[in-house]
Amino acid sequence: MRVVLYTGKGGVGKTTTAAATAVWAAARGLRVLVASADAAHSLGDVLEEPLGAEPRRLALAESGTLSGVLAAVEVDARAEVARHWGAVGDYLGQLFRHQGIEEVMADELALLPGLEELTTLLAVDSWASGGAYDLVVVDCAPTDSALRLLTLPEAAHAALRILLKLQRAITAMVTPLARNLVAVPLPGPEVFRDAEALIYRQLGRLRERISDPGTSVRLVLTPERMVIDESLRARTDLALFDVAVDAVVMNRLLPEEAAAEPFFAEWVRQQAARRSEVAGLFSPLPILEAPLQHDEVTSLERLRAHGRDLFGDQAPEALLSTEPGLEFKREDPGYLLRLPLPNARAEDLDVSRIGAQLVVRTGALRRPIPLPRHLLGLDVSGARCRDGILEVHFQSIGDA
Ligand SMILES: Nc1ncnc2c1ncn2[C@@H]1O[C@H](COP(=O)(O)OP(=O)(O)OP(=O)(O)O)[C@@H](O)[C@H]1O
Ligand SMILES: [Mg+2]
Repeated sequence: MRVVLYTGKGGVGKTTTAAATAVWAAARGLRVLVASADAAHSLGDVLEEPLGAEPRRLALAESGTLSGVLAAVEVDARAEVARHWGAVGDYLGQLFRHQGIEEVMADELALLPGLEELTTLLAVDSWASGGAYDLVVVDCAPTDSALRLLTLPEAAHAALRILLKLQRAITAMVTPLARNLVAVPLPGPEVFRDAEALIYRQLGRLRERISDPGTSVRLVLTPERMVIDESLRARTDLALFDVAVDAVVMNRLLPEEAAAEPFFAEWVRQQAARRSEVAGLFSPLPILEAPLQHDEVTSLERLRAHGRDLFGDQAPEALLSTEPGLEFKREDPGYLLRLPLPNARAEDLDVSRIGAQLVVRTGALRRPIPLPRHLLGLDVSGARCRDGILEVHFQSIGDA
C-alpha cells in the first residue's frame, strides 16, 4: 500500500501535482484515491468535479482516459472529529459537566489545537488500510500546516504521557474530596481508561502509518529562492520526525525554446542554475521536473498529460528514494544515536538530555526521543552534526 503526500509553499502547484499523480497512476491501471487534506479545498476545481466528504468514484471509463480506478474526496475535518473522537468528547463532557459546563460538542472539540490534523490523518489511514485502493495521494496544506499534520502523532503522544500523569495525580488527590462535596457522581476510572485507550490507539495507528515504509512525502517547489529555502527547512523538520521524503517535484519550468525570446532568456538562465542547485541541495533525492504548461492544469485530460510529463517512464507510485532514519548503534565504549538531518544548520540545532529523553530541536520544531532502556544509565559524552547527520555519543561517566 502506498501513501504519497504532497506539500510545499503556498501556490507552488501541490494540488495540481497531487491530482496529476493520481490521474496518471489510474491511467496506468492502479486503483487510486486522491484526498484533499487542505481545509481550503481546491481539488474539486482542479479535477473539475464536485467533491464531498466521502470518496466519489469519477466516471471516466467512457472518456477512455483511465484503465484503473480514480476516486476523490475532500476531507471534512470537523465531521471526522465527530466520527473518530466522539468518545473523547463524551469523556470531556463528563469531566466538564460537574463544573457547570455544557456538553462538549464535536465542533468545540475540533478547536483543540492539532485535532483536525490528527483526524484528517485518521481518515487517510482508514482509506489506506481499507483495501479498496493501491495508492492514496494526499494534497496537503502548505508546509507549516502539513508539518503539523505529520509530526503531531509523535509530539502528541509525548505530550499526552505527561498530561495523563498529571491528570492521574490530580484525580487521585481531588476525587475523594470531591465525592464528599458534590452530589453528582464524578466520572469513574473506567471513563478515563476508555478515553485514554482510544487516544493511544488512534495515535499509535497514525504513528505506524507515517513510519510505514509505504508512506512518503514529496516536496513541491518552483525554481525560486524563497520556495527552495522553505522546502529545505521542511526536509530537515520531516527528517527530525523520521518522516520519509522520497522525491522533490520542481514545477513550472520554462521550456528551453523560451530562451529565444529576449524577455524570457534571463528567466531560462536563472531556472537552469536553480535546477542544478536544487539537485545538489536535495541530493540524493530524485528531482521530478514539470514544465510550465500553456494554461492552467485542470480537467482529467490535462492532468493526465501533466502526470506523463512529470513521471515519464517512472511509476508514479514507486518509492523513488529511501533515506536512513533514526538508529541506535553499539560503539566501544557506549552507544551512538544517529539521526540524519539533511540541510540542518548547526546554529539552529540544539540537543539536550532531559531524563529518559533526548530532546532535539531544529529551529522551530522539537522532538523528544525516548531513549532505549540500556541507554538510561549513560551520559551524553558528545554531540555533533556533520554532513547532515546528527551523532550523539552515550557513555557511562566512568568511561568518559
Ligand atoms: N506546471 C504548471 N503549469 C501551468 N500552470 C500551473 C502549473 N502548476 C500549477 N499551475 C497553476 O497554478 C495555480 C496554483 O496551482 P495549485 O492550486 O496546484 O497550487 P497549490 O500549491 O496547491 O496552491 P495552494 O497553496 O493555494 O493550495 C493553479 O491555477 C494551477 O492550475
Ligand atoms: Mg492546493
